[in-house]
Amino acid sequence: MKQKLVFLTGAGMSAESGISTFRDSGGLWEKYPVMQVASIQGYEADPALVIQFYNERRRQLPTVEPNEGHRLVAKMEQDYDVTVVTQNVDNLHERAGSTRIIHLHGELMKATSSRFPNDPDQVVTLQPDQDIHIGDQAKDGSQLRPFIVWFGEAVPMIEPAAEAVSEADILVVIGTSLNVYPAAGLLQYANSRCRIYLIDPHPTNVPYSLHIHVIEKGASEGMKELTQLLAQ
Ligand code: APR
Repeated sequence: MKQKLVFLTGAGMSAESGISTFRDSGGLWEKYPVMQVASIQGYEADPALVIQFYNERRRQLPTVEPNEGHRLVAKMEQDYDVTVVTQNVDNLHERAGSTRIIHLHGELMKATSSRFPNDPDQVVTLQPDQDIHIGDQAKDGSQLRPFIVWFGEAVPMIEPAAEAVSEADILVVIGTSLNVYPAAGLLQYANSRCRIYLIDPHPTNVPYSLHIHVIEKGASEGMKELTQLLAQ
C-alpha cells in the first residue's frame, strides 16, 4: 500500500518554465488590474477584455515546457499514491506526466458556458492555438468563456482537494504565496500524522501553527532535495 502524497502547487511551480507568477516583482498583477481581468465583475463589465487576456495567456502555453520540478513531481507516482492539487491553470503538470490533478482555479485549455460555468456538460477543451471570441457560443447558446475560477466565484474543486489533503501521509506545498483562499486554507486539513514540506525561495504566510519543513529553494532544486529527504 503506497503512502498518500499530496502536492499543493502555485504559480512558482511554473516560474522556471518561464510563466510569470502573480505577486512576485514583475508579476502579472503588476501589469494588469487583477479585478479587471480575473474577477467575475470584470468579466461581466468587459467580457472582450477578459477573453483576450486569457487568449494571450493560452497562446503562451505551446511555447513553454514543464520544468525539472514538474517532472520530479510526476516521478513521485512511482513510489507514492500522488494527488496534485494546483492553483495553476496551465497544463504543465499534465505534460510532465502527472496523472491525478485537481485544478482549483480552472484550466486555460478549457472553455465553458457563461450561464452555467460549472456544469460539466458545458466544459469543452480548446485546440492548442484556439482563441475564444465574442460571439462564440457554449453548448447552451450563451457566450463561451474561459474555464477559469475568477475572484468572486465558487471553487467547486475545493471539496475533493480538502478530502485528499485530509488523507495525506505527506503534504508538499510548492510555489504559492498562500495569499488566496480557500486554496491556502487546505493546509489546515492536514491530519496530525501528516508530514508537511514547503518549497519556495521566498516563503510567505507559512502557518506557524503547523510543523512545516521549509526548503528555501526553487521548485526544481527543492524537489531534488525533497526526493533525497523522502528516500532516507
Ligand atoms: N520555485 C518555487 N517557487 C517560486 C519560484 C520558483 N522558481 N519563484 C517564485 N516562487 C514563489 C514565490 O516566492 C511566491 O511565494 O511562488 C509564489 C508565487 O506566489 P503568487 O504569485 O501569489 O502565486 P499563487 O500563490 O499561485 O497565487 C494564487 O492567486 O491570482 C490568483 O488565481 C490566481 O492561482 C492564483 C492565486
